[in-house]
Amino acid sequence: MARLANADQVVTEINKVRQVRQYKPDAVPDDIITQLLEIARWTGSSRNTQPWHFIAITDKDQLSKISQLRTPINWVAGAPLAIAIVLNGESLSSEAYDEGRVTERLMIGARILGLGGGIAFFGDDEQQAEAKRILNIPQERMARSVVALGYPKTIKDPRPNPVQGGRHPLEEIVSYDRMG
Ligand SMILES: Cc1cc2nc3c(=O)[nH]c(=O)nc-3n(C[C@H](O)[C@H](O)[C@H](O)COP(=O)(O)O)c2cc1C
Repeated sequence: MARLANADQVVTEINKVRQVRQYKPDAVPDDIITQLLEIARWTGSSRNTQPWHFIAITDKDQLSKISQLRTPINWVAGAPLAIAIVLNGESLSSEAYDEGRVTERLMIGARILGLGGGIAFFGDDEQQAEAKRILNIPQERMARSVVALGYPKTIKDPRPNPVQGGRHPLEEIVSYDRMG
């Protein structure tokens, strides 16, 4: 496989993927939603089980209900789109890994398509059960998050206690051949 002609640009863009919590009101066109779902579909999973179902949510009322599950995700109400990741609920640890993989692909895919994405966790067991009721997801399935998507207004965290950005430097987080 050849190195992409614009590999450096792609790497720079991947490193710029941030959690977006504030969006312009513009709708995400249907063909872009389909592209995002294709990106999700092609994610690798444990033993290729593809243990997921995706719910593309554009209904304002549904987005608002999800946003009210807990205050740290109130910003979801302002997103024009969210994709809920529903897992089979058969193998919790491998499906959690698969969920992380699909989530990051959506985040990177969004950036490539000129959008921004934001992860929103539903919360504890009760809040997950409520999210399932809102989205008509059978109780035996696992559903704990949506990825909100839209055209970014800013990457500023609007919440009263914003999470600090930035990343640890390589020398703090990398060893070679053995740890330490
Ligand atoms: C497992 C997981 C759950 C998260 N849940 C939420 C959430 O419920 N609400 C929220 O605003 N951000 C949530 N985030 C986003 C993180 O706060 C974000 O990834 C982190 O602050 C880094 O953001 P940055 O890439 O913009 O620097 C979650 C991220 C992960 C990986």
